[in-house]
Amino acid sequence: MTAPRQLTIRKPDDFHVHLRDQAMLSLTVNHSAKRFARVGVMPNLMPPITTAAMAMDYRARILSALTLECNFDPLMVLFLKRDTALSDIQIAAKSEHFLGVKYYPSGVTTNSVSSINSLEDVYSILEYMEEHQLPLLLHGECAAPDVDVFDREQRFLAEQVEPVLRRFPKLRLVLEHITTTDAVDFVQANQEQVGATITAHHLMYNRNDMLGDGIKPHLYCKPILKRRRHQEALRNAATSAQACFFLGSDSAPHARNDKECSSGCAGCYTAHAGIELYAEVFAEEQALDKLEAFSSINGATFYGLSLNEQRITLIETQWQSELEYHIGERSVVPLRAGLPIRWRLG
Ligand code: NCD
Ligand code: ZN
Repeated sequence: MTAPRQLTIRKPDDFHVHLRDQAMLSLTVNHSAKRFARVGVMPNLMPPITTAAMAMDYRARILSALTLECNFDPLMVLFLKRDTALSDIQIAAKSEHFLGVKYYPSGVTTNSVSSINSLEDVYSILEYMEEHQLPLLLHGECAAPDVDVFDREQRFLAEQVEPVLRRFPKLRLVLEHITTTDAVDFVQANQEQVGATITAHHLMYNRNDMLGDGIKPHLYCKPILKRRRHQEALRNAATSAQACFFLGSDSAPHARNDKECSSGCAGCYTAHAGIELYAEVFAEEQALDKLEAFSSINGATFYGLSLNEQRITLIETQWQSELEYHIGERSVVPLRAGLPIRWRLG
């Protein structure tokens, strides 16, 4: 019998994760810290993390939930509002604990109602961010009710991102969780200024998986899964080793009851296998040699961070996660629950 394939890479970073708060932190933080040295912590709590002080309090709660013995550096993100204070932007720009500022079009996803409808409303803040070299992270979907849910990303690029790129040529942008060929092309064409994160679930699945044979609530996320040709474009982009594409899992846990119901929440929980699922995709694409660039180099380089010195080893061996993770009375169903995952952490 031949020994299973193994891959040793620099410890990855996850530049887009929802750790949530309170009881959920013991699950999310330890799953992430096992696999990722640094994480970009999304601010869409209730209420959202809108000030530097709130972010630093949240960061302390995250670190106090860490029980694993490892270094873990949560990089905080501010939730952009019409009245975001320039003093908070300045603090974030100077501090090593902050990654950037996140724009959620109002109402487009979980806990985003308190946001704004258009980036035009905050051009004075963007000007300040450009001057202070603080990146703008984008939930790239147009929230207008008349736009088809499958077209939200294309419309957002044309209507909101194009004008911002032209007006603020030194502002760095990250298109989070891209899902379409249009976004891949857009990022490649503007890679001096724009980077993009890609999730494992958008690499693994397309809308047929979610809707083709029984509706699968645990594959429902924002932006919604697209057609197969879009999935293929994402797989090509992620495995291309191009510096503009990097890992952002968008692991977004919701309680089982909130997903398996008549109006289910959007979000897939993937932190339990946060690097293993990507390894599976890269192996399928015969591109394991490109995984380290995507997971551990490109994002750090985009954000001007040093590379992690620690290493992890991935082994091609099947395992299964828990069917659900219990948190008090509630539980979270992870992606791939009950099905084999083909790579495991050594
Ligand atoms: C995220 C969440 O639940 O916080 N959900 C999701 O489907 N991705 C929010 C987000 O990133 O859109
Ligand atoms: Zn997200």
